[in-house]
Amino acid sequence: MKSLLTFVFGLLIINNTEAQLPAIIPQPVQMRPGLFPQDKFTIDKNTVILISETSLSPSAKFLADYIFKYYNLKLKITNDLEAAKNAHSINLVLNQKLYTDIEKYFVSVLKNQLNAGASSPQGIFYAVQTIIQLLPVETTEPAQLYIPSIDIIDYPRFAYRGMHLDVSRHFFDVAFIKKYIDYLAYHKLNNFHWHLTDDHGWRIEIKKHPKLTSIGSWRNGSIIGLYPGTGNDGIRYGGFYTQEEVKEVIKYAAERYINIIPEIEMPAHSMALLAAYPQFGTEPNKKYEVAQTWGIFNKFNNVLQPTDQTFKFLEEVLTEVMNLFPSKYIHIGGDEGSKIWWKQSTVSQQIMKANGIKDESGLQSYFIHRIEKFVNSKGKTIIGWDEILDGGLAPNAIVMSWRGEKGGIAAAKQKHKVIMTPEDMMYFNHSQFVKDDSLTAAKYLPLKTVYDYEPVPAVLNTEEAKYIWGGQGNLWSEYITNPAKVEYMLFPRLDALSEILWSPKEKKNYTDFQKRLKTQFKRYDLMKVNYSKRYLVN
Ligand code: ACM
Repeated sequence: MKSLLTFVFGLLIINNTEAQLPAIIPQPVQMRPGLFPQDKFTIDKNTVILISETSLSPSAKFLADYIFKYYNLKLKITNDLEAAKNAHSINLVLNQKLYTDIEKYFVSVLKNQLNAGASSPQGIFYAVQTIIQLLPVETTEPAQLYIPSIDIIDYPRFAYRGMHLDVSRHFFDVAFIKKYIDYLAYHKLNNFHWHLTDDHGWRIEIKKHPKLTSIGSWRNGSIIGLYPGTGNDGIRYGGFYTQEEVKEVIKYAAERYINIIPEIEMPAHSMALLAAYPQFGTEPNKKYEVAQTWGIFNKFNNVLQPTDQTFKFLEEVLTEVMNLFPSKYIHIGGDEGSKIWWKQSTVSQQIMKANGIKDESGLQSYFIHRIEKFVNSKGKTIIGWDEILDGGLAPNAIVMSWRGEKGGIAAAKQKHKVIMTPEDMMYFNHSQFVKDDSLTAAKYLPLKTVYDYEPVPAVLNTEEAKYIWGGQGNLWSEYITNPAKVEYMLFPRLDALSEILWSPKEKKNYTDFQKRLKTQFKRYDLMKVNYSKRYLVN
């Protein structure tokens, strides 16, 4: 009897501690209470962050900056064991032999020590993101922060975890881009897809071709309201990033283990380019303008003429872009090119004939192949939207599947890497609610649909499934005019995205996720993030 009572009591204790496991998003692979679960680690003004090597400085600094910003507590960072001897220390330890997965880490919280280990600085950075989520969501004065005793071992499910931002329809300054990168970092994402060019504005300085920004980064108005709109505001709108600013953003992202993939759109979505350099269009004498209205692409003459001069120009642009961005991957767009412009252009038709190309899909394929060859010659790889499958995929291209999953499935079957970003599940510019409070794209994408998305299509066999490199959320900015609106559209769908891409499939649980979101919202309150508050009551 006694032993049964002890057994039941024991179970109760276990259940009780399990119920108190901290709310971490994305859900870690393994998490359990520490050996002495009642213990807690205290962070106060005497706590130091001890790093085993200077390569861990960006992670230590990230943690110290966070604790200072939100709790007004300044922690010392040191790599001197002596200096940490008598203090409660947060020990960040690199050991290359620890794990083969460079993104894997552990966090172990004891009474006097908080230990985090990984085999790379990137793994340590993810440990720091988890430590941040172990911090209390309320602040006290003077700050004294308690962290529960906990053991975590964690690593990501997918290698590619991305988030995109369109800065062409609306422009966001460097300060906000850095904030956005921080948001991705908190969620353990590792790629930021920067959509830098489109019909509505060219946003990156290209020194050899200055008109791309002096002309191409400005439009003379924007439509009012939901497309097709109720008029035009007639307000000149624009902006661009200088190469110095781009370098600053790249460095900032690198310190957060985020790779930036620049996107330079071609052959379509090129109205801004054509406004600056009309000679590269299919109707060079036309007065092209930077687009002022969203949607329907084939109403515009926005396709580049595939002449040698156009390729030379694009190569010069891409050379500057590739010299700036350390990313191995360059996104070349490839989407939504209407074939009518090539069909009715004598020059395009002559180019097709001269190259034995039988139709306009073949011309699209010729275009992308030629660009791929150039990009590959510089040691880089192209990524394109799934239209790059039309007429035959370029040999080394990575496909971003946005028109559903069929492009991704076809590419995986052809042994090409795939990033899943189907419009109906991964476009965070779609409305979160049937009726939104603000002007939003008319499609509907609630949080649960995002959370339930499974990036590996069931039709793929085990071998083919290996080509699903990961997934990405996209934010197109037609109706996203300011940073607060970006945050409103992003949160909490970014939380759901991070769990799809990081956490083990079998650990996904929407009810549990919703519970953890409550804590996350309190953290967002602390950080003054403008998340979508309607989810508070759901
Ligand atoms: C896209 O949404 N046109 C990629």
